[in-house]
Amino acid sequence: MENLNNLKDQFKKIFTKDCESIFFSPGRVNLIGEHTDYNGGNVFPCALTIGTYGLVSKRDDKKCLVSSLNFQDLGVIEFDLDNLINDKSHDWANYPKGVIKTFKDHNFVASHGFEILFFGNIPNGSGLSSSASIEVLMGTILNESFNFNIDMVDVVKMCQEAENKFIGVNCGIMDQFSIGMGKKDCAILLDCNTLNYTYSKLNMDGYKIVIGNTNKKRGLADSKYNERRSECETALKEIQKYKNINSLGELTESDFEEVKCHISDPIKAKRAKHAVYENARTLNAVKALENNNLVLFGKLMNESHISLRDDYEVTGIELDTLVSLAWECDGVVGSRMTGAGFGGCTVSIVKEDCVDKFISSITPKYTEKIGYEPSFYIVSISDGTRKLS
Ligand code: GLA
Repeated sequence: MENLNNLKDQFKKIFTKDCESIFFSPGRVNLIGEHTDYNGGNVFPCALTIGTYGLVSKRDDKKCLVSSLNFQDLGVIEFDLDNLINDKSHDWANYPKGVIKTFKDHNFVASHGFEILFFGNIPNGSGLSSSASIEVLMGTILNESFNFNIDMVDVVKMCQEAENKFIGVNCGIMDQFSIGMGKKDCAILLDCNTLNYTYSKLNMDGYKIVIGNTNKKRGLADSKYNERRSECETALKEIQKYKNINSLGELTESDFEEVKCHISDPIKAKRAKHAVYENARTLNAVKALENNNLVLFGKLMNESHISLRDDYEVTGIELDTLVSLAWECDGVVGSRMTGAGFGGCTVSIVKEDCVDKFISSITPKYTEKIGYEPSFYIVSISDGTRKLS
């Protein structure tokens, strides 16, 4: 937990008044079920103890003054509640602004503005969902401040809509959902088709979740992300001529083997195969965990990475290097890329007493091959977005 008094002092310095309330919104890591959310499949993410803090005070007018300690050079950014448009020069502030706009579109209208100071300890652009974290944070600030009494699942949906329509990134629901609905020490099995979900307690006795950051910034990520989505959509359309389904998530592995001949482009067939097999793998992984079979869980994590590397082709040399080095280490149950891919982070489950060795043996080998160092974070699983005080 960050030093909140220090953040309060910063708030006072910037806005020359005291903050009235403090909110926290986690980042997320996905354990398995990658690139399945927008294909109507299952995901298995959890919320982290690292995330974004928001210190808030009310204004009497319709102005919002926002500042981020992560982007201090951009200073205080000001916008008006009657003029909520995406403005490139407002940079990161478009995320909270987009959420306010989307709430307004759904008739949850903010009747006064705010001063808000943001601070995040999620590394930006690392694939741990710093953007969804700030979105759900803003959604929760609005929900609490105006007593809208909106169910968290609906807050989550509006935050996803803000990302899709206001920001223009066609993401699925996984990030916002796991951040809003996270539960301490649990991962969430979410069926992205129905939004049915269950919590699975993660019994990590003697093991740690270690996130490895490739430190590769994801330049082309968004365009490639949208490309993968449309490849899957085309494959689905071709299958739909022969089978009555609404999403790839409805196919079992054997269904897929029967209908794959109808996908004309072999590349698109590989993409669809990943979506179907990853979906099945996710359900098997959750079962393995319920049976306390961490070894099988890890094996499925490894298979997930291989499928993302060979069939979905969203890994790249940095992620592949970090994961294969992890596979060579003692005490590693499983390791895979997490999030959208093309850079960003890996997630590994490592025996507690092997973690130091894991980090110290991978770091020089990765650095030698890639040219810069990776970073590692040993993380714990937290509750979802909430008001702290
Ligand atoms: C990004 C998106 C999610 C999901 C993952 C891949 O994090 O925001 O909706 O599609 O990529 O699993």
